[in-house]
Amino acid sequence: MITIAIDGPSAAGKGVVSEKISKLLNIHHLDTGAIYRAIGLYCYENNVDAYDENQVKKILDKIEIKIEFINGEQYTYLNGECINGKIRSSIVSDYASRSSALLCVREKVKDLQQDFAKHHSVVMEGRDITTEILPNAKYKFYLTASSEVRALRRLKDLEAKGEKITFDQVLKDINERDYRDSHREFGRLQLAKDAVYINTDEFSVDEVVSIIYSKINER
Ligand code: DC
Repeated sequence: MITIAIDGPSAAGKGVVSEKISKLLNIHHLDTGAIYRAIGLYCYENNVDAYDENQVKKILDKIEIKIEFINGEQYTYLNGECINGKIRSSIVSDYASRSSALLCVREKVKDLQQDFAKHHSVVMEGRDITTEILPNAKYKFYLTASSEVRALRRLKDLEAKGEKITFDQVLKDINERDYRDSHREFGRLQLAKDAVYINTDEFSVDEVVSIIYSKINER
């Protein structure tokens, strides 16, 4: 079994890079952000305050998340409904970022992630994969980029989906989410001592993939 853990802030390119690495190695790519987004979506659709631990605790048992892979693509199901088309909006990003700070949410998602890695070779990407979820992973990477570069990438994604939003708003959202993701009490985003740090500002996706691929082959 091969386990590759990748962490980094939002829009650092973890998703697209992990996808390519997983194809090269013919293993799964688990986007753990989609799981937090599923919980964020549930809160948003059911008027649950994603900051309020008591409110979120009450609804967690009503949330069943399933992951399926078809032709290597991840499909995330929330109570039986495939939500791939619903979880990338700015509002769901916001709810996911808020609810993911809660310990009860992280505990629920932790089991799912660790169980997956027990049974599959995987490239798993998120915020606390290298530090808390798979601290013994053989390969660990931390991908980042300046907030401006990430905001531009995210803006392009959102525009392609038809969302009307300005660069300044995307940048503000990214900075707020970065702050929340790296300052919360549990599962905060941090650079693991033994992770390879890669700033992707100056690199194309394929260049990052080849850096990671050669690091994996070195060992
Ligand atoms: O990677 P992403 O932008 O899709 O993640 C959405 C939110 O979920 C993000 O604000 C932080 C949270 N998240 C987390 O706390 N831990 C992870 N392993 C993955 C995502």
